[in-house]
Amino acid sequence: MRIFIDSADVDEIKRIVELGFVSGVTTNPTLISKTGREPKEIYYELAQMVEHVSAEVVSEDAESMVKEALEYSSIHPNIVVKLPMTNDGLKALKILKDKGVRVNVTLIFSPSQALIAARAGADFVSPFIGRIDDIGYYGMDLIKQVSQIFTLHDISTQIIAASIRHPVHFVEAALSGAHIATVPPAVIWKLLKHPLTDIGLEKFLSDWKKSMGVNV
Ligand code: E4P
Repeated sequence: MRIFIDSADVDEIKRIVELGFVSGVTTNPTLISKTGREPKEIYYELAQMVEHVSAEVVSEDAESMVKEALEYSSIHPNIVVKLPMTNDGLKALKILKDKGVRVNVTLIFSPSQALIAARAGADFVSPFIGRIDDIGYYGMDLIKQVSQIFTLHDISTQIIAASIRHPVHFVEAALSGAHIATVPPAVIWKLLKHPLTDIGLEKFLSDWKKSMGVNV
């Protein structure tokens, strides 16, 4: 499973990318609006850092979605256009695929939506885990079902496990067959840490210093 960052905060993304395990970033209109910045500038800066930057359209009809998508995809070859799972989103997907634009279909909440988006040509689908948990269902089942369907029918569309809210979501997404997990920075920082790593390192260093006659 590859690891993406779900954020539009360029400075924090840079601090994580420097650690070497991230290959993409997903944004959405909510995340972009929190920055107060011009979206295209953000997409350009992120595309210099990672090989995949999902840039989501905010238009609602297919024609305007295509126009907006073409503007984003012309910023940099690493930009992947994010379209919502709506009828207009699907119409726009077909037009954009004919033009060779890579597309991530977002706001996927059922296995049938994922299969339809894949058959319509999506390069990526983004099933949302946390928002399903929020309404009292088990979001991870969606990842498992989509993964099973894609494997059974030899579908090459990549599954991006989205709406990840905590470290257990991350591990279960990997076990459930997600190709990619897009993870908010707050969760990424937690994934790096383990108390036994800190305790172990402290002991190694203090033993080393003692044996070398260094005061600890
Ligand atoms: C996915 O691409 C979305 O940006 C994101 O994962 C949504 O997460 P949320 O449900 O925590 O807002």
